[in-house]
Amino acid sequence: MINFQIRENISGSLVALEENKNIPFDIRRVYYIYDTKKDLVRGMHSHKALQQVLICVKGSCTVSLDDSLEKAEVVLDAPNKGLLVRSNVWREMYDFSPDCVLMVLADKHYDEADYIRDYQDFLRYIRDGK
Ligand code: TYD
Repeated sequence: MINFQIRENISGSLVALEENKNIPFDIRRVYYIYDTKKDLVRGMHSHKALQQVLICVKGSCTVSLDDSLEKAEVVLDAPNKGLLVRSNVWREMYDFSPDCVLMVLADKHYDEADYIRDYQDFLRYIRDGK
């Protein structure tokens, strides 16, 4: 988890994200997920090289992480909390609140070849490196 500093004043709150400062990589891409249907699960993949920081800028959701040895579940429910997800981690996102806006910062452009979308392939890739 990364806790971002909140700059609060009488008119509201502000969080600033800067590459290689509070975001630990070059920011090549930003996307956001919203209007997610209740009871649906997103993600269900790992990345061979991509690193990402997930920030729930509005609402809340839960993220499960699995590196093939350990599993963890993290609730993202504040706009000053970032979850760093390194490569080779299987992730699933669920329990989206209706107002959830999940913003993702990534260190590479979109590349379908970087995805592993099958869990058995993920385990094999971790084990064999290919
Ligand atoms: P996907 O990564 O499968 O979404 P999630 O993991 O949240 O379920 O992406 C959904 C679709 O959007 C898929 O067709 C690929 C496309 N996409 C892009 O074109 N650019 C992007 O940066 C991302 C993340 C997805």
